[in-house]
Amino acid sequence: MKKGDNLIFNLSVEVISNQMIASEVFKIKFFSKEIASVAKPGQFIHLKLDYEDILLRRPFSFYRAEKETFELLFQIVGKGTAFLSKLKPKEKVDVLGPLGNCFSLPNNISRILLVAGGIGIAPLRFLAEVAKKKGIESYLLYGTCSSNKIVDLADFKALTKEAFILTEDGSFGEKAMVTDLLQKFAHEVAPDYAYACGPRLMLKEVVKILISLNIKVEIALEEVLGCGLGVCHGCVCQTTKGYQTVCRDGPVFEGKSIIWE
Ligand SMILES: Cc1cc2nc3c(=O)[nH]c(=O)nc-3n(C[C@H](O)[C@H](O)[C@H](O)COP(=O)(O)OP(=O)(O)OC[C@H]3O[C@@H](n4cnc5c(N)ncnc54)[C@H](O)[C@@H]3O)c2cc1C
Ligand code: FES
Repeated sequence: MKKGDNLIFNLSVEVISNQMIASEVFKIKFFSKEIASVAKPGQFIHLKLDYEDILLRRPFSFYRAEKETFELLFQIVGKGTAFLSKLKPKEKVDVLGPLGNCFSLPNNISRILLVAGGIGIAPLRFLAEVAKKKGIESYLLYGTCSSNKIVDLADFKALTKEAFILTEDGSFGEKAMVTDLLQKFAHEVAPDYAYACGPRLMLKEVVKILISLNIKVEIALEEVLGCGLGVCHGCVCQTTKGYQTVCRDGPVFEGKSIIWE
């Protein structure tokens, strides 16, 4: 996949379905041929939610996109996501996107490692699907706090060569954090490339472990955004190339390029 300039649409798109698939985690599907046909894994859309005092748009990664529809996976954390969870089929939302860059998925690779923490699974699902279509094997290490937060397990098992699921409270799979098992899992899989998304502290540790194993890793950052277009500079992060915007230069960055505070 080529990183670079994107076609960006600002459209009012119709909800097709919206359902809770885990505790406070929803999957919402929209109809838009324009957006779905150009969306790439790692990119996101910016939603304008017409509710009370919500002024800023809210960003969400593509969980899936095909032909005329795209899906998002979201967790309720505040007003915007609570409002989003109540949208019904046929209601419309103002969508800006696709925005940002995408995961690189070079042509010469055959085996990738996906590392997901919680809702960070969202962009990695789309990546696993595209990788499978290209004949690339995916291995998934997916951790959540508890079993009631795990999403689409059967789907992930079908998309990947191996999906290793763990929970922090031990209610499903091994009782561990992603970072506890990453070194062993990555060593066994020996991937050509790795991709990760999840909480910032997890990503920092994931990058450290994978770099120590000499495995290239790309991460998708999920910072609080303003404009989403690279204009307000409200989302800058420090990298080896200087300050970069998460919304325009990212959200996908080479793990080794991030300077963690
Ligand atoms: C590029 C990108 C992709 C994202 N993809 C997804 C996704 O696929 N699924 C998903 O559930 N979420 C995703 N997020 C995070 C999502 O945008 C926020 O959870 C959402 O905007 C919160 O809106 P709210 O109105 O419900 O919460 P608010 O009322 O705005 O905030 C509630 C709490 O969440 C915190 N918060 C707000 N925004 C973020 C954020 N961006 N990251 C971390 N904490 C935040 C606030 O500090 C506050 O504590 C993504 C963020 C970015 C930047
Ligand atoms: S949110 Fe405005 S520059 Fe990134």
